[in-house]
Amino acid sequence: MKVLVTGSAGFIGSYVSRALIARGDNVIGFDNFQEYYSKEAKEWNNKLTNDSIGTSHGTYSFIEGDIRDRDTIFDIFAKHKPKMVIHLAAMAGVPASLKNPKLYVEVNIDGTTNLLDAAVAGSARGFIFASSSSVYGNRTDIPFKEIGNVDYPISPYAATKRMGEILLWTYNHLHRIPVTGLRFFGVYGPLQRPYGMVVQRFIKQLDHDEPFTIYGDGSMVRDYTYIDDIVDGVLLAVDKNYNFEIFNLGNSYPVTVLDVAKDVEEAMGKKAEIKFVDQPVTEVEITFADLTKSKEMLGYNPKWNIKKGIAEQVRIYQQMPQWYKDLPW
Ligand SMILES: NC(=O)c1ccc[n+]([C@@H]2O[C@H](COP(=O)([O-])OP(=O)(O)OC[C@H]3O[C@@H](n4cnc5c(N)ncnc54)[C@H](O)[C@@H]3O)[C@@H](O)[C@H]2O)c1
Repeated sequence: MKVLVTGSAGFIGSYVSRALIARGDNVIGFDNFQEYYSKEAKEWNNKLTNDSIGTSHGTYSFIEGDIRDRDTIFDIFAKHKPKMVIHLAAMAGVPASLKNPKLYVEVNIDGTTNLLDAAVAGSARGFIFASSSSVYGNRTDIPFKEIGNVDYPISPYAATKRMGEILLWTYNHLHRIPVTGLRFFGVYGPLQRPYGMVVQRFIKQLDHDEPFTIYGDGSMVRDYTYIDDIVDGVLLAVDKNYNFEIFNLGNSYPVTVLDVAKDVEEAMGKKAEIKFVDQPVTEVEITFADLTKSKEMLGYNPKWNIKKGIAEQVRIYQQMPQWYKDLPW
């Protein structure tokens, strides 16, 4: 099947693209190499995807462009006629959304609207949207269920992701395009988006003999999900292609940031100094996915516990070339 993957040079997008190619899909990748974090890291992701073609059944063609550019998006549908859209491109950092909310609105809401309009005009058969656990806001009714109230996001980023979900509902209602929103919970793994993402940041800090920077007192709790489990969930959603659904894709095993710090130290065989810094107001206290619905309806079943995932991330990091480890993240 011909699939348009937006954000294909990013962390999750590059893994999803490679998994689709490996099973024989024809992927059109789209990304603008946004400089929120190092362009070189994204070019590397894209190279890995290109290199994977030789051993796979599927194909990969990459288009550099911006989802805010409506004409370009419509052109892609006119020329390539993708049947499925996996929309992962976004301004993805939570604290940074406080500094530049307008950019988040333009990319995450206007850009998503462009893609939905083009998908409808191009008669795409399905649309998968990367939402986020952040839509749940700061709450005490754990674990988080998809039917819970999500009217109180506490960052501009979370608000734009919630708006994306609302747009999915509206476009499905008006145009009958099948849409699925996937709420990812703290995705980590090799080649992880580094800026602000705790596992990769700790690995890099320890490798460079710098102290771990930990928000607040480190008791903040997060449900971290290994990239391979997220990729499985995305592909299951593509194959089910429900009419309209929202699913949690998490691990349902929350841990504190201090636990993560210990696991990184253990995997790297080294101790770190810890520097506690103020917790940004955009951070929620806990994320915790209820997976009942995604297990029942998607057959999603995460296989990676955090210790094993971090050990694998450290193993791959240690094999990376020095220039990658020294990127100014
Ligand atoms: N990583 C996580 O823990 C996590 C959690 C919840 C939701 N998500 C969502 O999953 C998706 C992928 O996240 P990721 O971690 O891979 O982030 P990422 O930043 O690595 O990937 C996003 C990609 O989108 C591209 N992009 C940004 N603006 C663009 C634009 N205007 N036009 C075209 N491309 C653009 C970037 O260049 C980047 O390659 C995002 O939508 C993010 O909000 C991620």
